[in-house]
Amino acid sequence: MKMSAKRVFCIAVCLVASASSPAIAESLKSVDEFDNVKDEKARSVAMFEEVGKVLQHPRCLNCHPVGNQPLQGEDMVLHNPPVQRGPGNFGVAGMECNTCHQAMNVKVTGQSEDVKSIPGHPKWHLAPPEMAWVGKSLGEICLQLKDKERNGNKTMPEMIHHMAEDTLVGWGWEPGDGREPAPGTQAAFGKLFKAWVDTGAHCPKV
Ligand code: HEC
Ligand code: HEC
Repeated sequence: MKMSAKRVFCIAVCLVASASSPAIAESLKSVDEFDNVKDEKARSVAMFEEVGKVLQHPRCLNCHPVGNQPLQGEDMVLHNPPVQRGPGNFGVAGMECNTCHQAMNVKVTGQSEDVKSIPGHPKWHLAPPEMAWVGKSLGEICLQLKDKERNGNKTMPEMIHHMAEDTLVGWGWEPGDGREPAPGTQAAFGKLFKAWVDTGAHCPKV
């Protein structure tokens, strides 16, 4: 089989990229599975670590990058074409996110080599710079989520609602053909996040 230039490039570059990205989990523990951790603070931290399997999944990180470009794929490479966030995080004139991203995932039929579908959502755009998670430790992300200056001015009940109900977050579990969904379900993730808040919202060490 002939190897395309793109593939050779990817083997060189993606190996480097994946060496530094967190391990990808496929399942999510339920809240009861933490009952055996008797100390409440330790239980809270342990549940946030479980929540982190979703937060640090490529489906979420690709839209919460540092800098002005989204990432793509399991190996979180720079978005191709090299689109920019633009002033409102919806791209720049002529290259807005919704030029290509529709209200729903769209299957790509035909000869495309690796793209099986184009992800979609009515509000598809990049998370603002203060909500960047890529390259941060889980402890840092945790503190950031609790900081109203960096979480879109959300209270904890609003954050619980966002995690459990927001449909852009929900895209992570229905990402379209050719992409791994985030672990577990959005409902299970929402319950874990709420249980973390209810046990004092303690963060792992930074
Ligand atoms: C298409 C891009 C996109 C994807 C994919 C995405 N987000 Fe976001 N996210 C955003 C945008 C844009 C905002 C800010 C606007 C808003 O609050 O809806 C945001 C804000 C947030 C916030 C609130 C602010 C903060 O960071 O504290 C949370 C929490 C969040 N996202 C969680 C997630 C999770 C969990 C996933 C994966 C399951 C995810 N996001 C996937 C674009 C995305
Ligand atoms: C010229 C068309 C085009 C524009 C404009 C565009 N995208 Fe994309 N985007 C795509 C295609 C096609 C894919 C699928 C690539 C793949 O699966 O390999 C994609 C994939 C993505 C992914 C990867 C999802 C994942 O988890 O793998 C993210 C995130 C993303 N785009 C965000 C954005 C954001 C944010 C904007 C606006 C700032 C934007 N895109 C603008 C065409 C575009």
